[in-house]
Amino acid sequence: MKFTFTAPKLPETGVLVVGVLDDRKLTPSAKALDDRMKGGLVRAIKASRFRGKKEQTLTLLAPADSGLDRVLAVGLGKPDALNTLAAQATGGLIYAALAGTGSAAATVAVDVLEGCPLEPAVAAAEMAFGAHLRSYRFDKYRTKVKPEDKPALKTLTLTCAAAARARTLYGQRAKVADGVFLTRDLVSEPANVIYPESLAAAAKGLTKLGVKVEVLGEAQMRKLGMNALLGVGQGSARESQLVVMQWNGASGTGKAKAKGAKKGKAGKGDGPLAFIGKGVTFDTGGISIKPSAGMEDMKWDMGGAGVVIGLMKALAGRKAKVDAVGIVGLVENMPSGKAQRPGDIVTSLSGQTIEVLNTDAEGRLVLADALWYCKDRFKPRLMVDLATLTGAIIISLGNERAGLFSNNDELAERLFAAGDSVGELLWRMPLGEAYDKLIKSDAADMKNIGNRGAGSITAAQFLKRFVGDVPWAHLDIAGVAWSKADKPTVPKGGTAYGVRLLDRFVADHYESK
Ligand code: BES
Ligand code: MN
Ligand code: ZN
Repeated sequence: MKFTFTAPKLPETGVLVVGVLDDRKLTPSAKALDDRMKGGLVRAIKASRFRGKKEQTLTLLAPADSGLDRVLAVGLGKPDALNTLAAQATGGLIYAALAGTGSAAATVAVDVLEGCPLEPAVAAAEMAFGAHLRSYRFDKYRTKVKPEDKPALKTLTLTCAAAARARTLYGQRAKVADGVFLTRDLVSEPANVIYPESLAAAAKGLTKLGVKVEVLGEAQMRKLGMNALLGVGQGSARESQLVVMQWNGASGTGKAKAKGAKKGKAGKGDGPLAFIGKGVTFDTGGISIKPSAGMEDMKWDMGGAGVVIGLMKALAGRKAKVDAVGIVGLVENMPSGKAQRPGDIVTSLSGQTIEVLNTDAEGRLVLADALWYCKDRFKPRLMVDLATLTGAIIISLGNERAGLFSNNDELAERLFAAGDSVGELLWRMPLGEAYDKLIKSDAADMKNIGNRGAGSITAAQFLKRFVGDVPWAHLDIAGVAWSKADKPTVPKGGTAYGVRLLDRFVADHYESK
C-alpha cells in the first residue's frame, strides 16, 4: 500500500471517504459533499440504519451530482473519543471496506473536528497507519487466487491540514509497520520453511539496517554450557541457534559495544534494554507429545522470537535513540531417538540443575539459558521476555490480553500503560514464594512443571530463577500471538502482538531526545 497526504480538497472523481459523527452529524467534508450532491448524502443516510456510530459504514455507488464512483461514509462516533487508537481502527476499517471493491485508489477526507483530541495531521497519520496494518496479507503460497479476487486497493490519499506533518508522522509509523509485517511473515511461515537456521538467517537480514547480528550454533552453545536450551533441540534434525541482535542507537551505531556491556551493575541504569524471545519453530511437545488435533498451531510457537526480531527492525528502521539488545533462542522440539526424555536432568548455563519432567514445558528451558546469557553478557538495564509459553494463560485471559509477570512495579506499570495506548492489552499476574515452591524438585534444583494449578505462574516463577536482580518482565503471549478473527488493524493470522507495545514502551521512556 502507498499512502499520500495532500491539502484538503474534495476530489471530483474516483472514490471518496468522508466521516460522519454520532447521530448522523456531518463532518465538514461530508457537508461539502452533501452540498455538491444537492442533499443526496443526507437522503441516503436517512434511508439507512447508518447512525455515524463507530465501526458503521455506508456505501453509495455513483451517487448523482457527485462525479464520484463511490462514496464511503464512515462512522466516527463521538468526537471526544476519537483518539489515536480510534483513528487507527477507522483507517483499518476503511481499508477493509474498500480493499475488495475493485478500485485501486481512494481519497479520505480528514477534517478539523470540534471536540476531537487529535489534530487533523495526527489523525490522518494514524488512520494511514491503521489502514497499513490492516492491509497485511500472507498469501504467497496461494497460487490459484484470481487477480479479481485479490485486494485491488493500492493507494490511499489522505487530505488534511498540515499534510507535510502528517507525512512525516506516518513515515515514522511506517517503520513500525515494517517490523510488524516482518513478525507476521515469520509467524505465518510453516515450520518446514522457518526452522532455527532459517529464522536466524531472517534475523541476519537486519544487518542492512545497522543492527549487529551474531548467530551462535550448537557447538558454541555447548561450550558455554547452555544445556537447558540444547536439551530441547536435541531430538531435532535441525540445529538449534541463539541469535543476538544489537541496535546501538544511543551510543552510536558505528561503534557497536561489542563485548556488550559496561561493567556496571545490572539494573543500575547504563546497560542496554534487552528483549528476549522464545523461538520454538515447532513444538510437538517432544516425547511428552501433544495430541495431533491442532498441533499445526505450534508453528507459531516462535512468536516471541518473531516479536523480538520485528521490534529490532522497527527500532532500527526509525533510528530509535536507544541501545537495545534482542536475543532469541531458536529450537525445534521433536520426538526422536535422540530426544530428551522425561526425567532427564540438565545443567543450565546458570549452573542450576533442572529436572525435565515434561518435555512439552520446553519454552522455559530455552528462555532460562537465553535470559541468563543476556544478563551475564550485557548487564542490561532491564529485560523483557516474550513467549507463547503456556496454554494456561489462555484459560486465564482468553485471547484479549497477554499475561504480564514482573519483579519490578515500575517496569510492569510502564508496560501495562504502553499496552493500553497501542491496544495490545496486558494483565498483571502474581508471583510469589508460594508459587515458587511448586517447582521444587527432589532430584534437582527445580523441575520444569508444577502441579495442575497456576500453570502460567509456575512457568513465570521458573523464568524468574534465571534473571537475578535485573528488573524483568515476562509477557505470556500464547493467547494473542495468533488471531482467528479479523480485528480493525489486525487481519486474522499472526498478530505481531508486542511489537507496537514495546516500540511504544521504548519511545515513551528510554529514548534520548
Ligand atoms: N507452546 C506451548 C504453549 C501454547 C499452548 C502456546 C497453546 C500456544 C497455544 C508450550 O510449550 C506448552 O506446551 N506448554 C504446556 C506446559 C505444560 C506441559 C506444563 C501447556 O501449556 O500445556
Ligand atoms: Mn510445549
Ligand atoms: Zn512451546
